[in-house]
Parts: sequence; structure tokens; C-alpha cells
Amino acid sequence: MRSKIVAGNWKMNKSLEEAKALTSEIMAMVADEVKGDTKIVLCTPFPYLLSTKNQLGTNSRIEVGAQNCSEHDSGAYTGETSASMIKSIGIPYVIIGHSERRQYFGEDGKLLAKKVDKVLASELTPIFCCGEPLEIREAGTHEALVKKQVEESLFHLTAKAVQKVVIAYEPVWAIGTGKTATSQQAQDMHAVIRTYLAERYGKEVAENISILYGGSVKPDNAREIFSCPDVDGGLVGGASLKSRDFVDIIKGA
Ligand code: PGA
Repeated sequence: MRSKIVAGNWKMNKSLEEAKALTSEIMAMVADEVKGDTKIVLCTPFPYLLSTKNQLGTNSRIEVGAQNCSEHDSGAYTGETSASMIKSIGIPYVIIGHSERRQYFGEDGKLLAKKVDKVLASELTPIFCCGEPLEIREAGTHEALVKKQVEESLFHLTAKAVQKVVIAYEPVWAIGTGKTATSQQAQDMHAVIRTYLAERYGKEVAENISILYGGSVKPDNAREIFSCPDVDGGLVGGASLKSRDFVDIIKGA
């Protein structure tokens, strides 16, 4: 179902005490300041998922997400965490295929298709990331690459299943660099993705899918980017580690 979503990706940051403090600051500011129905997600490191969820309590409008999961169900995979484990602790979202996982952990489209399947099989929502590196943008083949990423990992899904996926377009050259895509660049790529989904699944299905923008989203650029017709919110890295910035970004959605 298409909705506005702002998700914070904490990556590998914060101690437990710091995570608790950040969560309580965000909770208080959201309760005081955030109107509307934007969904808010905190994607914390694995050790803090459950404590963050418990801290938020059942009444909070803020939800929790994991940053990765295994492509396997269970068994001898030391160090891995399955989608069903994440489900069993009541965490509804899982980021899949972040560019850092593609780049540093060699995750490719085929593997990510399996991870998406596991997340959906556990009735969780995958936040599936795609996006081109700088050299691809400069070569002008960015649209083809992003379409390929979407096709490889999502186009095996049924129309019913694909509507449960949230897509995050994150140009790699904008992640953690302070260099944001312009709102026009974001809108153009989001429209490319939505049109491609429409070609595969029909317009109605494509219109139902949330497509988030990620890459140096900050309080001073969030409102403009989020106001683009095909941008349904953001996946926020660095700025999600500061409560004031993150809540200001949510207010821009
Ligand atoms: P950034 O990260 O906001 O720090 O650029 C975004 C992301 O990696 O999801």
C-alpha cells in the first residue's frame, strides 16, 4: 500500500545507551510536533531491535526495522539472522540490498531476490534499495542499471506480493557524501522506476508502491525532495542519528 514513509538507517552506529537516548528524544519530539500520517521507522542495529521496540511501546506510531537478513530459513549459518527471527520479535521492516551490502558484502540481484522472498514469506515489509554508482551516472546508463536492479530482485514476484515491497532509490554517489540528488534527478528516477513497475504489473499496482529517496537527505532539502509526485518519503542515514534533524526531516514529508 502506498504511503509516506521516513525511515532512519542507523547503520553500525550507537551504543545501547546512546540508542535509548536517541529513541527517547525522537519519541518526545514526534509526539509533540509530528502531525499527519507519515510512517516512521527506526532501522537500528540488530542488538537494539527488541529494546527499541519495547521502549517505543505499543502505542507509538514509530516502528522498528532491521538492516539486513539471511537468504536462508535456519540452520548452520553462523552469525546470520533470519527473517523469521526478526518476525518473531515483532519487527515489521527489513532493509534489503543497501548499496553498502552490495558493495562491501558482494550481495547481487539474485541473492537479494531470495532475501526479498524470505522477508515477504515472514509477512514483513522489505525496504528494497537500488541506485547507481557515480561512474554509471556519469556514463549516462543510470536508468538502465536501476531498472535492471529492480527487475533482477523484484520482477519474479506476483502483483499481490510486489505491492508489499517498499523501494528506496539511493544513488550511491549521494550516500554519506553530502551531495544530494536534485529533486528533479530524484523525481526522474522515481518516475522511471514506477513506469517500469507499471509495464510489468499495470498502472494500478505501480501506483500502490511506495518509492523512497535516500542519499544525504537533510532538514533543508527534505521538503523539496519529498514534494515530488513520485517520491513517497525517504531513507535517511547520517541525519537519522540526530533527533532534531530526523524529526525535522519527518516534518518535511
Ligand atoms: P545518508 O545515507 O543519508 O547518510 O546519505 C542514506 C543511506 O545510506 O540509507
